[in-house]
Amino acid sequence: MLDKFEREINYLRVSITDRCNLHCTYCRPKEGISLQGHDDILRYEEIIRIVSVAVNMGLIKVRVTGGEPLVRKGFIDFISSLKNIKGLRDISLTTNGILLEEFAQSIFDAGIHRINISLDSLNEEKYAKVTGGGDLQAVLRGIKKAEEIGFAPIKINTVVINGFSDDEILDFAKIAFEKPFQVRFIELMPFGQAHTFHTENYLPIDQVMKKIMSRYKLEKVEEKKTKADGPAKIFKIRGGAGEVGFISPLSGHFCATCNRLRLTADGKLRSCLLRDDEFDLKKMLRQNCSDADLKKFIREVISLKPKGHDIICGPEHLRKCQRDMSEIGG
Ligand code: GTP
Ligand code: 5AD
Repeated sequence: MLDKFEREINYLRVSITDRCNLHCTYCRPKEGISLQGHDDILRYEEIIRIVSVAVNMGLIKVRVTGGEPLVRKGFIDFISSLKNIKGLRDISLTTNGILLEEFAQSIFDAGIHRINISLDSLNEEKYAKVTGGGDLQAVLRGIKKAEEIGFAPIKINTVVINGFSDDEILDFAKIAFEKPFQVRFIELMPFGQAHTFHTENYLPIDQVMKKIMSRYKLEKVEEKKTKADGPAKIFKIRGGAGEVGFISPLSGHFCATCNRLRLTADGKLRSCLLRDDEFDLKKMLRQNCSDADLKKFIREVISLKPKGHDIICGPEHLRKCQRDMSEIGG
């Protein structure tokens, strides 16, 4: 699946629910969320059909996201069905970790061995504050369990919030020094209700790197040959067990190598995270379209994938994305 700019599109991020057991300030704050109804969101069979058709067209990688994917009933069976799709080489999951201790073994047994866990503070009170009441210890137990079971790689995503968690950057780097994890620092993006919050709390990734390099020596890890790689720039910490990664959607666009599409929980297909255009796949699906129609639709969306997004750092350049991140899945 090549787009107009010769990018090979082989990765689909699938949000299976807009619901979440947390209310992170920048993602899904308590105020003003309207949850989608049962009929609004895609049924698992519908997602499986879309993925099967896309695999037939060249898709090789799927990441399951939310909201929080572990809160949707039946998700373990869903993963097993994904696993049965021939040609789908890589299935991974992004979770906030709250329910990971309970579900890690079933997730692993169902066939997902790569997991990304969101964690924005290592301080109990601050964690509860940024997540709207989340329990840090539950996430840490989940991570421990995932490590014991043998998930690899385990990636920790931390969105750096200036004035809130910038003082924890070295604590997060220390995790990557001590554990065989990949700790990724992410620039805050201006989504939905987090827009104003963003203006005050954005920290460019070079400042995060500088801070880490004041304590650790970083060695660049060669970009792997696989075409299904994510957006992080990865470094090994000299003498340490793990790696750190830097994701800079605003200060260093990675659109030129973007290989992804996104499917929202309510069945919209998006070709760019940071642009608002989306296409109603669910409507087509529910009008009993054929697989050939589906393929044509997906091909059209890919042909409209923009060269890049237009959001750069600094409040004067900020355009807010309409949807909350919890509806898109990161
Ligand atoms: P892997 O590298 O395969 O592990 O996955 P990933 O990094 O794409 O997935 P994850 O769900 O952990 O996302 C990490 C962060 O990168 C999130 O904040 C995402 O929103 C951001 N991100 C992922 N893909 C894109 C993208 O296509 N564009 C932009 N701007 N940000 C992205
Ligand atoms: N900016 C940056 N990252 C975000 N995420 C959610 N909302 C935002 C935002 N506004 C991250 C989560 C999760 C990943 C899927 O997306 O922390 O790790």
